[in-house]
Amino acid sequence: TNAAFPPYEYKDGDDIVGIDAEIAQAMADKLGLKLEIVDMDFDSLIASIQSGKIDMSLAGMTVTEGRKQNVDFTDSYATGVQVIIVKEDSDIASADDLEGKLIGVQQGTTGHLYCADDFGEDHVNALPNGATAVQALLQGKVDCVVIDQEPAKAFVAENEGLKILDTEYITEDYAIAIAKDNTELLDKVNASLAKLKADGTVQSIIDKYIKA
Ligand code: ARG
Repeated sequence: TNAAFPPYEYKDGDDIVGIDAEIAQAMADKLGLKLEIVDMDFDSLIASIQSGKIDMSLAGMTVTEGRKQNVDFTDSYATGVQVIIVKEDSDIASADDLEGKLIGVQQGTTGHLYCADDFGEDHVNALPNGATAVQALLQGKVDCVVIDQEPAKAFVAENEGLKILDTEYITEDYAIAIAKDNTELLDKVNASLAKLKADGTVQSIIDKYIKA
């Protein structure tokens, strides 16, 4: 994972906690497997799955056609929404106002891909993680940040003078990525995920971290 994405995965001291960490632990328990969490850059996760450095990734990762060329995805376990964070006094009121602006994103995320497609790579400043993108916004180095809604809420709560625009930019499905040739693991993970959804475990983990 990339443990810089609260409440899905983040550091609590030396521990990596969050929705994905708990779902992974629950699946490992069900499957009788040992969970080891490795923290790395978000944009190296897919290559690390392909090279066998890691077996799977839970990282609030959106299912996209492009990624499906390189990895398989399990059934979805959560929904994400791309939102826009601006300074409280910003003149940006909706996605239509992003034209010509400089947009901060986390390198290699869907926010990065969509903004580069919609507004041009020149209008995107790709930063190592969401927190550094938000720092760039606070310092006036970018005009806004496009990122998933729940981390956006966490970053806005931690920093003065920011707000999330009401407009939803794009809705997406999060799923677990697994190597294409590892259908045995894919089947096991899908089966355990189905049980953990059916018995309410997945929802109770989500509810623990995301208050309605
Ligand atoms: N949902 C977005 C994507 O798949 C962002 C995920 C970022 N996750 C993370 N752990 N940093 O591209």
